[in-house]
Amino acid sequence: MERMLADRMGRVSSSPTMRVLVEAEKLRQRGIDVVEFGAGEPDFDTPEHIKAAGHAAMDQGFTKYTPAAGTLEVRHAIAAHYASLYGVEYGASEVIVTAGGKQALYNAAMALFAEGDEVITHAPGWPTIPEQIKLADASPVIVRTYPEQGFEITADPFLDAITPVTRGIVINSPCNPTGAMIAEHELLRIIDAVADKNIWIVLDLCYEQLIYDPVPHNLPKLLAARMRDRTVLTGSASKSYAMTGWRCGWAVGPAPVIAACNAIQSHSTSNVTSISQKAVIAALTGPQEVVGQMLAEYRRRRDALIGWLTTDPRIRCHVPAGAFYLFVDISALLSPDGLRTSDEFAHALLNEAHVALTGGEAFDAPGYLRISYATSMERLREGAERIHAFVRALDAAGKTPSALRA
Ligand SMILES: Cc1ncc(COP(=O)(O)O)c(C=O)c1O
Repeated sequence: MERMLADRMGRVSSSPTMRVLVEAEKLRQRGIDVVEFGAGEPDFDTPEHIKAAGHAAMDQGFTKYTPAAGTLEVRHAIAAHYASLYGVEYGASEVIVTAGGKQALYNAAMALFAEGDEVITHAPGWPTIPEQIKLADASPVIVRTYPEQGFEITADPFLDAITPVTRGIVINSPCNPTGAMIAEHELLRIIDAVADKNIWIVLDLCYEQLIYDPVPHNLPKLLAARMRDRTVLTGSASKSYAMTGWRCGWAVGPAPVIAACNAIQSHSTSNVTSISQKAVIAALTGPQEVVGQMLAEYRRRRDALIGWLTTDPRIRCHVPAGAFYLFVDISALLSPDGLRTSDEFAHALLNEAHVALTGGEAFDAPGYLRISYATSMERLREGAERIHAFVRALDAAGKTPSALRA
């Protein structure tokens, strides 16, 4: 048969979290009230002063191309943000503004990785990371984090996975979907092992401002001190400032790699929307209390939701240290006589109880569900009630492991 698509498409799959959004939308179009726990985005509106900056940009005719890497003003604002958060210094030529953290990671993968390279990342994790590594024709090597250790990202599995062809390590902390982080001393052990090798560390900090309890997490400073010339930091306005739709993120790293990202971006998407660039300046340089207010609300929701769900002991929750996802172990509800996998569970839950969430398979963690609690308290309670009613119906139909029936 004649080839239709490029070979690389055989290696890459579409975003499973986006698929849930599409399925839920189909139900909604039929007039069904779906409780939305699938979307990885804040329910909060973009703060007013940020929107005002977007409006002003339009009113002032700031609606033309900008340099592909972003205006000097926004790149300075990002550099200043990192200086104030972490005490690391970067110049404008070391910053590129991207269409979300996603494009920052994509550009970095394309700029750094190639066929024959191995790139180590952790699972359960955000599915885009290994797919991007594959798009760059490199091979993702997946190391595990474990529920018994709260899914904490630790050095040993990375150190064990390093081979002569390892070219990069991608770490996401706090992590989607587990909310777990890497401790500074663990990152230091990785740095010790790779600092004198030709290995890059790409650090996805997209949830960096959504950490519930203050713990030392100055990963950029540790990297800058020992391997600044082989570190790329990626970040985003999406989650911290409720700006998902504005599509604004960034990569920060040595000038040659940022120049390479710029070359890739200038031939693909060009600059991030000029209006979004102005809005993100307002986000980064304006009042930061909004971030703390949203974080406080996420914490209230996290704690309430865990309380509601765990009234059934077969639903096991690990308390996330950051981000806004609950990664729930439902393996005790799966059964050969009923729902066999967490994907099947998620699918049935959507179609029968109208709660949209993502099965753990999407994150390389069968037996789990990811619940995004970036939604109102009222909807969280409604969703938790629907989940309990759904499980009671499974019990009544003899579809859960009977020995453990609540
Ligand atoms: C771990 C992680 N990194 C990066 C992103 C990118 O988000 P955005 O492209 O909206 O900045 C996401 C979004 O879900 C994420 O979960």
